[in-house]
Amino acid sequence: MSTEPIGLARDLAPKGVMRAQVGQTDLAIWRSTNGVVSAWENRCPHRGMRLSHGFVRGESLACAYHGWHYDCSGKCNYIPAHPELEPPSTIRPNIYSVVEQAGILWVNTVADAKPVSLPNDLIALRSITLDCNLPSAIDAFKAAAKVDAALFNGTVTELSQHPKILSLESPSGANGIVILFQQPHPKSVVAHLLAKDVYQTNELVAVSRWCESVRHKAEQQ
Ligand code: FES
Repeated sequence: MSTEPIGLARDLAPKGVMRAQVGQTDLAIWRSTNGVVSAWENRCPHRGMRLSHGFVRGESLACAYHGWHYDCSGKCNYIPAHPELEPPSTIRPNIYSVVEQAGILWVNTVADAKPVSLPNDLIALRSITLDCNLPSAIDAFKAAAKVDAALFNGTVTELSQHPKILSLESPSGANGIVILFQQPHPKSVVAHLLAKDVYQTNELVAVSRWCESVRHKAEQQ
């Protein structure tokens, strides 16, 4: 496993909690009131409740079951049933590194994962879920880019194998999008779309609709 894109950074607001699947690892991703993002194994160290059901309380995440609080380092810092107790520092969930790059949240589930290199003129557009396997999703985008010359003129480049990243560009390189593929389940793919920062709003809408049309084709294969 490697560095994986798991969502748009702006979709996780302060005090937000979301769930993500990276390989076999079920994750709770949350953002503190001050904006710190954490990615933890989705399992409370107390009785195993999913932490993605929890609530953000300032700079801590509170489990929905018995209310144990964990700070941004993962340390348990409050147990409601024993408010005077200083919880042992060993009580903490498994923690993974998470970074924000190009408007995307990236999770590393292995210690030596390499950061992904991307062009720096991209903005995060949206994420689309496709009900198909990964090869079908990739093939659909490649085929559509070749057919729809008006948008990309058929220039498709693979920027990365793991995670799978495609670049669809005009020959001049002036226009284009980058697609980051995430596969949370064998028959489900999430395409995180980044667009060159030159697009006008109406052009971004057109690109977004084009991606929706590709989704339909991929799901019909
Ligand atoms: S299961 Fe999380 S506090 Fe009890």
